[in-house]
Amino acid sequence: MRISVIGTGYVGTVSAACFAELGHSVICVDIDSSKIDQINAGIPPIYEDGLSELLEKHAGKRLSATSDYDFAVTNSDVSFICVGTPSDSDGNIDLGIVKAASASLGDALKNKKDYHVVVVKSTVVPETTEKVVLPIIEEHSGKKVGDFGIAMNPEFLREGKAIYDFMNPDKIVVGSLDESSGGIVASLYSGLDCAVTRTNPRTAEMIKYVNNSFLATKISFSNEIGNICKKLGIDTYEVMSAVGNDFRIGPHFLNAGAGFGGSCFPKDVKALIGKAREIGYEPELLSSVIAVNEKQPSMMVALLKNKLGSLKGKKIAVLGLAFKNDTDDIRESRSVPVIKELLDNNAEISAYDPMANENMARIFKNIEYHDSAAGALHGAEACLIMTEWDEFKTLGKEFTVMKNRLVIDGRHMLASRDDIEYVGLCW
Ligand code: UGA
Repeated sequence: MRISVIGTGYVGTVSAACFAELGHSVICVDIDSSKIDQINAGIPPIYEDGLSELLEKHAGKRLSATSDYDFAVTNSDVSFICVGTPSDSDGNIDLGIVKAASASLGDALKNKKDYHVVVVKSTVVPETTEKVVLPIIEEHSGKKVGDFGIAMNPEFLREGKAIYDFMNPDKIVVGSLDESSGGIVASLYSGLDCAVTRTNPRTAEMIKYVNNSFLATKISFSNEIGNICKKLGIDTYEVMSAVGNDFRIGPHFLNAGAGFGGSCFPKDVKALIGKAREIGYEPELLSSVIAVNEKQPSMMVALLKNKLGSLKGKKIAVLGLAFKNDTDDIRESRSVPVIKELLDNNAEISAYDPMANENMARIFKNIEYHDSAAGALHGAEACLIMTEWDEFKTLGKEFTVMKNRLVIDGRHMLASRDDIEYVGLCW
């Protein structure tokens, strides 16, 4: 099948590369010409494990990029909207980019004679496909739904594992208003070993939010239990490892610590809260999920102050800047509020992340960045572990260069150790 993918961020580029790998012809569309040039040269505009190999394999053959919507729509049968859905200043979803992409697609559809299916893959709150995207496309194309198809197909890709997740899905959800456009979208995944859940667009949209909100809830629940356990002198990891053996609960996403970051969980839970309020429902549990998550980074600084007293002029090492391991992404990283609070307390910060130093340096210019943990730890009066990088599990002799070997661990990276003064966040 011939596919066009609008937006070359994480979801768009990964989906485009994987659809090409599945044998489809793919045209990426973006308004950013530097990204187009990169993709056409087989270079990923973002870092994602395995993406560079796929782009190198398919660019110039089954995969190309353009800024020309007319060309992309004319030369494809299905268009995926994969643009960003950021939060507005109140935490509600900002659909500005989705609306602009829908308008451009509608304009391009005006002169197309063949049937074309528009698929929303961007994470959008329930009713968006039917009440926002569809009317814009109808207005701009001068056509009515039925002349073209509309569907919603959420993604469940983890950053860092996105290619693996695309090629090995545990669910594929396709929401459509009619049988035939849903069937066309489902058929694009026929090379994958996974049943397709067929439903309507608003249910598909909701499935995405519920998936992310439930995972975020598991984390905040684990953090709350961890905070209680810590006060009782109980190891929450021992508790959760037993609790996770219950098949109804499962062992995943029960790791207490500094909380969840990234471009999805905080934004999606807040967007669902916003949608619920818009329709007159106050979502108390979801609000608590966010409240607990916002408390965790501050608790790390409180533990630090408990040990060191005033932080003024003290050198504090921050290990881990990315929002999780194996990515350079710092969006909503828990290290951001921690660094802000440390700076508010006039601490001096020396930071290290295997991949994210450069990105963090765009936000915090007045802290030291190092290319190794040992570099950041040198002369530090304490260290905070913020990201679950594997290499932090084996830190040992690096701590000997600290002025004071105090380690506050926000990710359960180091078991209780006697060569350092070890303080776990929730254990
Ligand atoms: C998440 C979902 O896992 C994907 O299924 C979804 O497609 C994606 O959002 C999205 O909506 O696009 P991602 O944001 O890449 O993926 O990150 P996760 O691996 O889910 O981790 C999120 C955060 O939770 C990280 O900051 C991580 O450190 C934290 N976390 C995770 C915990 O604090 N405890 C845990 O037990 C697990």
